[in-house]
Amino acid sequence: MTTAATGDDIMAEARRRRTFAVISHPDAGKSTMTEALALHASAIIEAGAVHGKAGRRGVTSDWMEIERARGISITSAALRFEYRGHMFNLVDTPGHADFSEDTYRVLAAVDCAVMLIDAAKGMEPQTMKLFEVCRHRRIPVITFVNKWDRPGREALELLDEIEQRTGLRPTPITWPVGIAGDFHGVADRLEDRIIRYVRTPGGATKALESELTPAQAEAELGDDWRRAEEEIALLAEIGADHDQKEFEAHQSTPVLFGAALSNFGVARLLDAMVDLAPPPSPRDDVAGAPRPLAAPFSGLVFKVQANMDPAHRDRIAFVRVCSGHFRRGMVLTHAATGRPFATKYAQAVFGQDRATIDDAFPGDVVGLVNAGALRPGDTLYEGPAVTFPPIPSFAPEHFAVARSRSSGKAKQFRRGIDQLDAEGVIQVLRSDLRGDQAPVLAAVGPMQFEVVQHRLAAEFGAEITLDRLDYTLARRTDAASAERLARQRGAEVLTRSGDQALLALFTDRWRMNSIKADHPDLLLAPLIADT
Ligand code: G4P
Repeated sequence: MTTAATGDDIMAEARRRRTFAVISHPDAGKSTMTEALALHASAIIEAGAVHGKAGRRGVTSDWMEIERARGISITSAALRFEYRGHMFNLVDTPGHADFSEDTYRVLAAVDCAVMLIDAAKGMEPQTMKLFEVCRHRRIPVITFVNKWDRPGREALELLDEIEQRTGLRPTPITWPVGIAGDFHGVADRLEDRIIRYVRTPGGATKALESELTPAQAEAELGDDWRRAEEEIALLAEIGADHDQKEFEAHQSTPVLFGAALSNFGVARLLDAMVDLAPPPSPRDDVAGAPRPLAAPFSGLVFKVQANMDPAHRDRIAFVRVCSGHFRRGMVLTHAATGRPFATKYAQAVFGQDRATIDDAFPGDVVGLVNAGALRPGDTLYEGPAVTFPPIPSFAPEHFAVARSRSSGKAKQFRRGIDQLDAEGVIQVLRSDLRGDQAPVLAAVGPMQFEVVQHRLAAEFGAEITLDRLDYTLARRTDAASAERLARQRGAEVLTRSGDQALLALFTDRWRMNSIKADHPDLLLAPLIADT
């Protein structure tokens, strides 16, 4: 085990960390951008290696057939790379709306988000949903308007839409020269430079960039430059200038234009992350007291995943370091149980590729192997006890009763359900009435059911049947109300295994409101997605 770093060293390491996620609607270019960022930072040699898409060499998620079949990224891993002396941790978020609960947990681990927007489509539904999570968690957002190499909307019109839909003041730090589909370069409003982009074949290498003087831009780009100049003058007039305090306070969003596929604007995005994105800051514990960065080690488990790689067959907990110096081999305390947790097998997990990690600092993501007892939201610490606030569960909207197809597999079924519950793949609800062998699975999106069905069969040998229930709404309730709700038609109360919360399920809002009207004193509190 390495020796513990001093407080000053920890602070210096924390300052050079940038921990972020890319949020976007499917197809906006998240995989392409991830690949391009990693390429620029030289984390990997071969472009394409970060892709989790069908038919490409997958790193983030090759392990799961459902993903391959559907061409979506369900699982999240972290990618680490260095750029300009800074250590980046890019935490992957699932692209599909059905996995927004997972995304919510992942976003608990980041300090900043890059919102990727398709130049032709603007703000799309999943982008908005993820943005809402950032707003809720007060995560600063940098916006990257992607695919400017293809015909799309007007830049000013996109700014308007960003402002209308997010409430954030857009402050372009680069401005495109040439309309979408006729992209010549950008004017950098912060650095006061004009950059011309030259396409390279295939786009798999870094883009060629050259700097132009305004006179050269005028001569070479003519009308396109003049138009950009006018728009930039307009931006100055309306005061759409970057303000670091407002950005960090989640009131404005710096905007960049580019094309991830051709690597246009990607280096500028990395520079913006270095210069503008906040480094890790002290995280509040359950009592609201900030844990100083240089305090002894503490970390938040934001994701647990079993059987990521059939060759390893283990369970990994992804931990975001919140304070202190993580040293592989240290024995930590698991706040939820008070038990010791050994960290002999700490790894940087990058899809199927794993490397042993010996040291980590605030902002880093560490994969802990054999993490049987850990659940998302758990705290690990060294020294004085600390517990971070739990990560809230979403309000489920889809419900189904799961049963093992074969009575001989009851044990595997039970073990599998418990495992997927612990990972947070799905919420598991139980009641005495329904019994142990017929738990109700509760999902935010129906695709979660597919994942459960697939993983129970593939990893636990338990084939299941799923009978959908016609509930669509859940509310938190208490024991006294539960007793009375049990007598109502179109309602049922079950206990959520994860947090032992009592959830009242209703067929629809109308039914719930009519029960509420008859019994105004019932406790029916909204769950997180309703807030
Ligand atoms: P996602 O992870 O957000 O779902 O998106 P992904 O990167 O897979 O990109 C979706 C599609 O958009 C891909 O094309 C990709 O090549 C394209 N794309 C991404 N960034 C840019 C860009 O800056 N400019 C242009 N013109 N296209 C871009 P596809 O044909 O759907 O996939 P593929 O099979 O060619 O990879």
